[in-house]
Amino acid sequence: MRAGQGRPQGVVTRGTTNPNRLRRVDNWIVATCGDRLRAAADPLVVDLGYGATPVTAVELRARLAAGVRADVRVVGLEIDPVRVAAAAPAADPPGLTFARGGFELAGLRPVLVRAFNVLRQYDESEVAAAWRTVTDRLAPGGALVEGTCDELGRLGGWVLVDADGPRTLTLAARLATLESPAQLAERLPKALIHRNVPGERVHELIRALDDAWQAAAGYAPFGPRQRWLRAVSALKESGWPVLDRPPRWRHGELTLPWPAIAPT
Ligand SMILES: C[S@@+](CC[C@H](N)C(=O)[O-])C[C@H]1O[C@@H](n2cnc3c(N)ncnc32)[C@H](O)[C@@H]1O
Repeated sequence: MRAGQGRPQGVVTRGTTNPNRLRRVDNWIVATCGDRLRAAADPLVVDLGYGATPVTAVELRARLAAGVRADVRVVGLEIDPVRVAAAAPAADPPGLTFARGGFELAGLRPVLVRAFNVLRQYDESEVAAAWRTVTDRLAPGGALVEGTCDELGRLGGWVLVDADGPRTLTLAARLATLESPAQLAERLPKALIHRNVPGERVHELIRALDDAWQAAAGYAPFGPRQRWLRAVSALKESGWPVLDRPPRWRHGELTLPWPAIAPT
């Protein structure tokens, strides 16, 4: 492990985490970011801010090793030294290690950074600088996946950010328990959560998705997946630049280019 460079950037926040909480974003990373990792000379991934226990870092390594490449190296970075010490028994070098670090990534140059439920407790005004600090340190072609989810990982939202800035927003829900897509507003990434107000594009998106879900109520007898697929198709037909294809939508996902929902 390379030594960190100076003081870790950021602040210690609540360490709440849960087993399997990040399965939706992990599955999306395997499907969507796998090629970046396959092409990398050094398949280094950072899990930034893994929390009170390292369980989600352990899971990320297992999912990437099984789904992308067996020689992936995941480094869990935490700004809280107590949590770094607590994670040590879970290390399995070289595939999984833990170290102290913050947005400066402790001098590492990973191809992928997952930072989940980390910026939620920061101020919205700090998001852009945090993104930039991380993306400036990525390996060429690297990306940051930054987002938020609920405690059980049933509702979530994340942004893919690379050297050119934010690229996409993904919303994801466990369809079996989804009452209405409006619930996703509570789990928007920090850059957007305060923008769910009239006049903002993300507000229009959530309203349009909710309307499409209501209009697709006739599909409910075929199950929530069919209803979601219909709602996302309708959103696309109405002009929203929905990305990906039904094989991803059926996971309860919706991805759009960042400019379609960027804050005004
Ligand atoms: C709510 S926990 C999230 C745990 C896990 N990622 C999850 O989603 O279940 C947030 C963690 O991020 C850590 N953290 C906050 N800012 C950080 C930073 N700049 N660098 C590294 N860790 C940070 C906090 O100390 C805390 O343990």
